[in-house]
Amino acid sequence: MIELRDVWFRYEGSGSPALRGVSLEIRRGEILVVLGSNGAGKSTLLRTLNGLIPHFYPGEMRGRVVVDGLDTREAQVSELARRVGLVFQNPERMFFSETVLEELTFGPLNFGMDVEDARKRALEVAEEMGLTELLSRPPWSLSGGEMKRLSIASVLTMDPAYVALDEPTVGQDAKNKASICSLIRRVREESRGVIVVTHDLEWVVDLEPDRIVLMEGGSIAADGGREILADGSRLREVGLSPPVCAMVSERLGIGPRLTPREVVEGVLAGRGFG
Ligand SMILES: Nc1ncnc2c1ncn2[C@@H]1O[C@H](COP(=O)(O)OP(=O)(O)OP(=O)(O)O)[C@@H](O)[C@H]1O
Ligand SMILES: [Mg+2]
Repeated sequence: MIELRDVWFRYEGSGSPALRGVSLEIRRGEILVVLGSNGAGKSTLLRTLNGLIPHFYPGEMRGRVVVDGLDTREAQVSELARRVGLVFQNPERMFFSETVLEELTFGPLNFGMDVEDARKRALEVAEEMGLTELLSRPPWSLSGGEMKRLSIASVLTMDPAYVALDEPTVGQDAKNKASICSLIRRVREESRGVIVVTHDLEWVVDLEPDRIVLMEGGSIAADGGREILADGSRLREVGLSPPVCAMVSERLGIGPRLTPREVVEGVLAGRGFG
């Protein structure tokens, strides 16, 4: 389990904290989705899970993050990286190899796997992520969507106990979104933990997560099951319009719970409710 206990973080030079008293548990065998508007602190939260915060980001941290008993403040970043694989929001920052294949074998080799096994694992994941045709290409030459898939694949080759993904479906077409969805579900079946940050609510419905957390202004505004997606006022906080909320609720088979005020506002704005 990853446990965050009353975590605060303020980036150096920033007037206000990006995380304000976040307490959260991320369990193995579960998919946890984090929703929230731009600047809510979602990426910052992910950076605390593998020790990037506090080890690489200057700033002031309070509280504790404990990964399977290891306090991230005290643990080596390399030790944390074995347990928590983080797929960045902007993947181009992650690549440093000459070819896609080298990029995919780098992690396993670095963790002590022998060359043949590392290659085998890389080819397996490349196949799952639709990268087989691109193995000899330099990572920088890939399209945005391909880069994103390479960044997901290069984390998966290391088989971390927890996978944290920052907006994995950005730039992906329907087919690739579906592959990412089944990959994430497989990670859950293998009793590993998944935390996914996304703005892609329709995809969240397909993903069938176990838990949903809404972040707002660096804090957790809601933490619960899929019923959160049926709460119109909560979803409005993460920037979704009532018609989208109604569509999502309908697909989930849960009636929308819009407040009378939301209904009036929606009608005044000329919007339907699905
Ligand atoms: N490296 C940094 N240095 C200083 N401030 C930062 C840094 N990264 C993020 N912030 C600030 O911290 C706050 C939270 O940012 P964060 O990137 O965690 O938001 P987010 O929820 O991931 O947003 P988005 O949906 O746009 O990706 C914002 O106010 C942001 O400007
Ligand atoms: Mg972000």
